[in-house]
Amino acid sequence: MDVNPPLGLLAELTHRCPLHCPYCSNPVELVSRAAELSTSDWTSVLSQARELGVLQVHMSGGEPLARPDLSALVEHAGSLGCYVNLVTSGLGLTAARLDDLVSRGLAHVQLSAQGATRERADLLAGARAFDHKLAAAALVKASGLPLSLNVVLHRRNHDQLAGIIELAERMGADRLELANTQYYGWALRNREALMPTPSQLAAAEPVVRAAVSRLRGTMEIVYVVADYYEPYPKPCMYGWGARQLTVAPDGTVLPCPAASAISTLTLDNVREKPLAEIWYGSSSFNAYRGEDWMSEPCRTCDRRGVDFGGCRCQAFLLTGDAAATDPVCSRSPRRSVVDLILARPPESDLVMRR
Ligand code: SF4
Ligand code: FES
Repeated sequence: MDVNPPLGLLAELTHRCPLHCPYCSNPVELVSRAAELSTSDWTSVLSQARELGVLQVHMSGGEPLARPDLSALVEHAGSLGCYVNLVTSGLGLTAARLDDLVSRGLAHVQLSAQGATRERADLLAGARAFDHKLAAAALVKASGLPLSLNVVLHRRNHDQLAGIIELAERMGADRLELANTQYYGWALRNREALMPTPSQLAAAEPVVRAAVSRLRGTMEIVYVVADYYEPYPKPCMYGWGARQLTVAPDGTVLPCPAASAISTLTLDNVREKPLAEIWYGSSSFNAYRGEDWMSEPCRTCDRRGVDFGGCRCQAFLLTGDAAATDPVCSRSPRRSVVDLILARPPESDLVMRR
């Protein structure tokens, strides 16, 4: 099959993070600081990615500001002609640091928030973070860069949805992503404590709809649904190995950020192979590309070009088979797995990320 070049690179510079969010989708086992790629490793990754065709680089983590070489990496990616986005908690973003990053070519900042009020947000972050985020947002706006606010929604903050939208307006965000929790990595162990209730989801819909129409032209709002409640799965990654690649802090190259959970995949590392060889030729990227891997019902389904059979990580985590139809799908013979989870009583204990 024809394989197109990737458009985006998610560069997970480090797993170190000052926050302890219980919905963290990073793996349970984090990469240690000692195992992280060096500055020259990362500049090589960025150069190889650009040569491959990558135009957007998302510097992420953990907290990318924890890397002292962040500005050198931003400069390198910018000099290659890439659009560089910083995905940050905002902790550690000073005026001097931001000025430096902007002067080196940073184009966009995506800031996370955990709730609408200091009390709730700090509780969910497991740290005093809220005031830092307000300060970080003000710095980004003063710099003239576009600002996105990203809020992961779950049972413990859905009631603050209207307040979260107001917070984004107060911050002057150009874009607000309201993403119901996806259950990968650490978040999976908290699933029964994070799952929103049907009434929370029903209440959210008109609030989001009204905000989208009121703020049209001022702030773009993206709402990512709680897919366990949906009849069809999300078009995860717009297809496996189709548009984006992820490089983990230790150089492991992943077809999607959560793919290390699929224990049946053999993953390659940029320390051992060129990125182009991994993108085009590796068994991990080719495993679920296109449609040949699909079995029924996806193989002959009229929606296979719409959702690509759903999410491979979710299929693996819920059925043990990464090639299975995503069990979120109402046409999946394993949909009962999801229905049983939805029928479970909620958990009250939330395990904070350690
Ligand atoms: Fe998508 Fe497969 Fe479900 Fe069809 S059967 S809607 S392709 S997941
Ligand atoms: Fe990995 Fe969906 S999160 S394919």
